[in-house]
Amino acid sequence: MSTIYFDSQHSESLRRENIFRGDIYVFSARPSTRAFVDFSRNLAIEAFAPHDPCAAQHHMQAEEFAAILSQLKPRFMHDPKVKEQMRAIFEEFGEDPEQTFFDVPRMRTMTHGDYLRTGIALAVPPHRDTWFAGHQSQLNWWFPVSGVEPENTMVFHPGYFDRGVDNVSDRYNHQQWMETSRAAAAQQIKTDTRPLPEIRQEIDTSSDFRIQCEEGGLLLFSASHLHSTSPNNTGKTRFSVDFRTVNLDDVVAGRGAPNVDNKSVGTTLSEYLRVSDSTPIPESVVASQ
Ligand SMILES: [Fe+2]
Repeated sequence: MSTIYFDSQHSESLRRENIFRGDIYVFSARPSTRAFVDFSRNLAIEAFAPHDPCAAQHHMQAEEFAAILSQLKPRFMHDPKVKEQMRAIFEEFGEDPEQTFFDVPRMRTMTHGDYLRTGIALAVPPHRDTWFAGHQSQLNWWFPVSGVEPENTMVFHPGYFDRGVDNVSDRYNHQQWMETSRAAAAQQIKTDTRPLPEIRQEIDTSSDFRIQCEEGGLLLFSASHLHSTSPNNTGKTRFSVDFRTVNLDDVVAGRGAPNVDNKSVGTTLSEYLRVSDSTPIPESVVASQ
């Protein structure tokens, strides 16, 4: 059974150990997380001005909205200030700067209804982030920014943390995916449309829960948790930001969440950078995974 720890004082190593058993850590806003989220929100406000980013979809065509996002998201991902803010978060949460590696932060949006999709508002079906070649020791750091409500936030299916589901993660090969996407970007053609990992069964939702925390708060959990997102019918666009970390000792020692059904090929580890000096994970370690 999973435990949810609120504002825990656990050491970083105990926290990882518990997360590998399916526990989830929830933290109230702290100076470092608030700065990170405020910065993210301000970028979105600037990008959608004069509209409120959560309501902008009601004031413009979907093409215009998508064009704004296509500038905003990479800007956030590559802003040097964001990396500094992430380092401040790692320091405040007691991460070892030599052993902890992070990947680029992402800004996620989920619009209300079927605005940016064809057909009805689709839910994001249950999946594990590890199905996309994430390491079994990967931690997800997830922050609500604006417009996040229980009706549009992520849903955890904790009953499946140590129970496999029928899925087709074996059709995901990370290195192949990256090469194809790069080629597609270079040729400015529509990005790869090959099928992604997918669940192939109905799940028992009786143990589901959602966690609502204030903006500036943080959810820290294993990338191996089965989770999904409800269709967004709140009338607002939801904004969140997230990034991932791994600890080099865990990777080398093979510690992490149990692998109950992840059959993806390859690894995302070559994209991670060390907190202290932004060097990548040694190639020999990546190659051994
Ligand atoms: Fe996910």
